[in-house]
Order: sequence, then C-alpha cells, then structure tokens
Amino acid sequence: MFNTTAWNRIRYGLYAPVYDLVAARAFRRARREALAQVAWRPDMRVLLVGAGTGLDLAFLPRDVEVHATDLAPAMVRRLERRAAGLGRDVRATVMDAEALHFPDGHFDVVVMHLILAVMPDPAHGLAEVRRVLKPDGQLCVMDKFQADDRPAGLARRVLNGITSAIATDITRQARPLLEAGGFVIEQDTPVLAGSLFRALLARPS
Ligand SMILES: C[S@@+](CC[C@H](N)C(=O)[O-])C[C@H]1O[C@@H](n2cnc3c(N)ncnc32)[C@H](O)[C@@H]1O
Repeated sequence: MFNTTAWNRIRYGLYAPVYDLVAARAFRRARREALAQVAWRPDMRVLLVGAGTGLDLAFLPRDVEVHATDLAPAMVRRLERRAAGLGRDVRATVMDAEALHFPDGHFDVVVMHLILAVMPDPAHGLAEVRRVLKPDGQLCVMDKFQADDRPAGLARRVLNGITSAIATDITRQARPLLEAGGFVIEQDTPVLAGSLFRALLARPS
C-alpha cells in the first residue's frame, strides 16, 4: 500500500527539509567508499538517479559531467542549491527513475545510492539504467540489502512492513536483482552496519 511511486514523491518531498540531518553524516563514509570503486576518467558523463539533496556531489571528481534526477521537486531544489554552493555545474531534473528521458547508451557511470530499496519496482528502474548506460559503463550502487544466500526471515519481513511504510524496503537482495537486470557485479563491499549496507560496482553483462 505504501510502496508506490506516488507515495514516494509525497513522502520524500516532505522529508527533503530534514533529509541532510538524517543522511549526511550517517552515510558519508559509505558513499565515499562506493564512489571510490568507480574507475573514473576525465570527461565521463555521470547520472545520479534518485539523487536526493545531492549528498554524493562532494565525492565526485570535478572533471566529469554530472546529471542528477529525482522524483521529488523539493529534493531537486536542494540539490541545485548544493551544486551552486560547491561551484559545480550539475544538470538537475525532476524525473522518475522508471522513465528516464535520456537516449540509449548515454552515460559512462550511473549512481544509484539508497534508491533500489526505495523504488516499488527496482527491476524496472534497473532496466532503464541499463538502457541509458554505455555497454562498457559502470553502475555504482550503495544500499541496504538482505544477504544474497538466504531470503529474509519472518522477523525481518515483519519489520519490513514498518520500514517500507516510513522509507525503505529491507528485504531486497542485491545479487539476484542486479544479475536478473543484466549486470555483472565486479565489486561488492560491506560499508555500513556490518554487511547490511553494501557498495556494489556492476557492468552490463
Ligand atoms: C533515501 S533517498 C536517497 C537520496 C540520495 N540518493 C542519497 O544517497 O542521499 C531516496 C531518493 O529516491 C527518490 N526516489 C524515490 N523513488 C524515485 C523514482 N521512482 N524516481 C526517482 N527518484 C526516486 C526520493 O525522492 C529520494 O530523494
């Protein structure tokens, strides 16, 4: 009931004013480690999907072209302010990750931080990302995942009813999701809360 794109637009719009208070410090190291796994080159074209207030911007190289999208206009406005404060030229747009308005094979790197567990249909989002990524592109994911080798147990599924209503799913499994989406995982690093939060680097298979 709560896990719909319409509801996400409303709730993340409401969370926008306080998002940095909750997420800036807590995920600083995790997002830095995730982005450090990318093989950066000058002039790469980079897309942040579900970019929120732009907390990743500070950890991106200065010599890449950055595009950022988010469902919630209030998030995008904050991201634009952050980009201006950092002196970065970022093309920020309100856009649904399930319907990206970019041509096929347009990006060298796509960053999905803390969004695969939020979207109601992550497989659909991954299909769009695979479409806009170049064949040799890199997908950088950082999120909370259930272990790949076993499905979520009863307690976690019950807790998921609460976390999904507030913010995010805690039962998704990274490897099955990415592999079914046509990606090969090259790096998979636990980055926060034991192995709950992982940073993955993947390429189209
Ligand atoms: C937990 S926040 C993560 C924000 C940012 N990536 C970060 O790492 O701080 C999830 C973000 O995904 C956005 N979002 C949720 N569903 C989306 C969708 N279908 N398309 C684009 N953005 C979406 C929300 O508006 C919110 O800003």
